[in-house]
Amino acid sequence: MKFCRIDDLPPYVFATVDQLKRELRREGRDVIDLGFGNPDIPSPAVAVEKLREAALNPRNHRYSVSRGIEQLRRAVAERYERSFGVVLDPETQVASTIGAKEGLAHLMWVLVEGGDTVVVPTPAYPIHRVAPRLAGATVVSPAAEGGVDAIAEAVRTARPKVVLVSYPHNPTTAVATAAGMQRLVDLAREHDFLLVHDFAYADVAFDGHRPPSLLAADGAGECAIELYSLTKSFSMAGWRVGFVLGRADVVGALAKLKSYLDYGTFQPIQIASTVTLREAHDYPSEVCEIYRSRRDALISGLARAGWPVEPPRGTMFVWAPLPERFRALGSLELALRLAREAGVAVSPGIGFGEGGDGHVRFALVENEQRIGQATRAIRKLLAH
Ligand SMILES: Cc1ncc(COP(=O)(O)O)c(C=O)c1O
Repeated sequence: MKFCRIDDLPPYVFATVDQLKRELRREGRDVIDLGFGNPDIPSPAVAVEKLREAALNPRNHRYSVSRGIEQLRRAVAERYERSFGVVLDPETQVASTIGAKEGLAHLMWVLVEGGDTVVVPTPAYPIHRVAPRLAGATVVSPAAEGGVDAIAEAVRTARPKVVLVSYPHNPTTAVATAAGMQRLVDLAREHDFLLVHDFAYADVAFDGHRPPSLLAADGAGECAIELYSLTKSFSMAGWRVGFVLGRADVVGALAKLKSYLDYGTFQPIQIASTVTLREAHDYPSEVCEIYRSRRDALISGLARAGWPVEPPRGTMFVWAPLPERFRALGSLELALRLAREAGVAVSPGIGFGEGGDGHVRFALVENEQRIGQATRAIRKLLAH
C-alpha cells in the first residue's frame, strides 16, 4: 500500500546502527551505547514525589487541557523571567506541548502549507527537516557551519515563511551569542518571516557559556517563537513536557489546533512539572555538571586514542570529525565499524542531513567509567 506523507520521508539512517547494536547484543557482546540522545540521569525526586501524590487523586484522572494547566504555564513564565530575563504572559504567550518535538511538528501545521518554504540549516535534528515537509512545505538547507551569514543568504534567495534554528545545536553543538540572536530577529523583521527557535538545550552549557533565549532579542515579540522543554534541563525525557512560547497569535493558533488533537499531558505530570519548575532550581546545573565531566572524559579519552575533538560548549553531545584515514569511508560505515569492532554505538552524521557526513555524534548518556571503556576500545581500533 502507498502511504501518505511517510513514504516520501528519507530512510531513518540511525536504524541501521541500532539494528547492528541489537544483533551484537543478541550475540552476547557488550555495546556501549553513545548513539541515541536518551538522557540516563534520573528526574528530580520532587517531580517523582509530586507525580505519585497527584496520581492518587482521582480528580487528576480526567481529561486535562491541551494548552496546559494555568499553574504550569505560570511556572514556566516565572522560570523564563528568572533565567533568561524574558517576560511572558502565561495566558497568551505560553502553551504546553507533549515535548518540544510534538510542539514543533504541530506548529508547522499552522504555519506552512504547499508552496511555502522553510529554511533549516543542515545538519539538523531530524524533525526539524521533517516537520515542515509533513506540513507540505519545501525545505531549503544552508550549511549550519555558515551560521547567521549562510541563513541570511538563504533567506534572500528562498524568501521563506519560516526559519528554524536551534542553539546550542544538535548535532553540531554550535552555540549562539545574544548578538547573533539579535541579527536573526533583525533579519526576520526585514524579510518578514517567522523565526522558530528550538531551545531544547537552554540549560545545557559549559565553560561559562549561558545560552541566550531568542525571545530576549529586541523586536522578538513580533516575529519569534521558542520551544522549551523539561527533557534535557530536568532530565525528564519520558514525561513529555515542552512549551511553545512567544508571539501570541502563533501560540493561540497552535493551541486551537491542539484543542482538536489532544487533551494535554496527563494532569499529574503537569502538576509535578509545575512544582519541579518552581522548586528544583538547582537541578539543571547539577545535570549540566554531569554532562560536563562526561564530556571531559570523552574528549580526553579520544585525544589519547589519537582522535582530537574540540570540546563542545553546549548540548549533551560531542560532534567528532571523522579521523583522517576514515574520511573516505563516510560516517555510516565508520559508525558500523565502531559498533562491530569497538563495541561502541554512535550516530552517523549523515543521519542529520547532507551536511553531517563528515562527522559522527557521541551522546553523553553513559557514565564516565563506561566512556573510558569506550575510548580504550576506540584507541585499539584506531591503532590497527
Ligand atoms: C534539538 C532537539 N529538539 C527537541 C528534542 C526533543 O525534545 P522533547 O523531548 O522535548 O520532545 C531533542 C532531543 O534530542 C533535540 O535534540
